[in-house]
Amino acid sequence: MLARCSRSQHHILTFAQELDWKGRMADSELIPRKPKDTIAVVSELMMPNQVNNLGHVFGGELLSMVDRAAAVAAMRHAGGPCVTVSIDRVDFKEPIYTGELVTCTARVRFVGRTSMEVGVEVLAENLLTGVERLTNSCLLTFVAIDEEHRPRRVAPLDLSDPEDERRFREGRRRREVREELDKELEQGG
Ligand SMILES: CC(C)(COP(=O)(O)OP(=O)(O)OC[C@H]1O[C@@H](n2cnc3c(N)ncnc32)[C@H](O)[C@@H]1OP(=O)(O)O)[C@@H](O)C(=O)NCCC(=O)NCCS
Repeated sequence: MLARCSRSQHHILTFAQELDWKGRMADSELIPRKPKDTIAVVSELMMPNQVNNLGHVFGGELLSMVDRAAAVAAMRHAGGPCVTVSIDRVDFKEPIYTGELVTCTARVRFVGRTSMEVGVEVLAENLLTGVERLTNSCLLTFVAIDEEHRPRRVAPLDLSDPEDERRFREGRRRREVREELDKELEQGG
């Protein structure tokens, strides 16, 4: 499984293993965590080799950044290695251009037993004018894994903030809808 990860994500997992995640995992297992404590920020200046012939940053470049930011948020919550199980939604609202600073901000929004829904917002900043634009909103699902790479239980979220509670309810509903649709299609509906 890990062999199939992107190189950057594999580095994240290796780094976490070097940090002795086994010990942290035991301590952190079921203590609720606030979503804000999972926030991860990844920034990168967009270069000419990252754009297509229209001058727009490739979707794949962006997805790589989004996946890395989301992986960090998931690992912060899980206190150990996590793998991407699904990239659920990526909205491209506006193009991003070479020379802009792209910042991906990720946070865990919903937690199941072993899985976590992570939301990522992408901002592009024109460094000459300081103007920032929200260019992408994304949702990904990660699964925490143990030493045998099997799904591992994660802590619940502390939902004392009403906004966090709203995001959680949305994530739970998305999961219900996905499961209902999967079931319906399996039954030939
Ligand atoms: C992720 C993985 C460990 C899950 O193993 P599995 O045996 O399918 O696990 P389960 O069926 O028990 O599902 C585990 C959780 O994932 C969720 N899940 C599984 N498939 C999913 C999907 N397509 N979308 C969203 N969630 C999904 C399940 O609902 C379950 O959530 P819960 O524990 O919160 O209830 C396994 O599928 C895997 O290794 N996939 C490859 C991961 C990978 O290489 N990613 C790319 C780079 S890191």
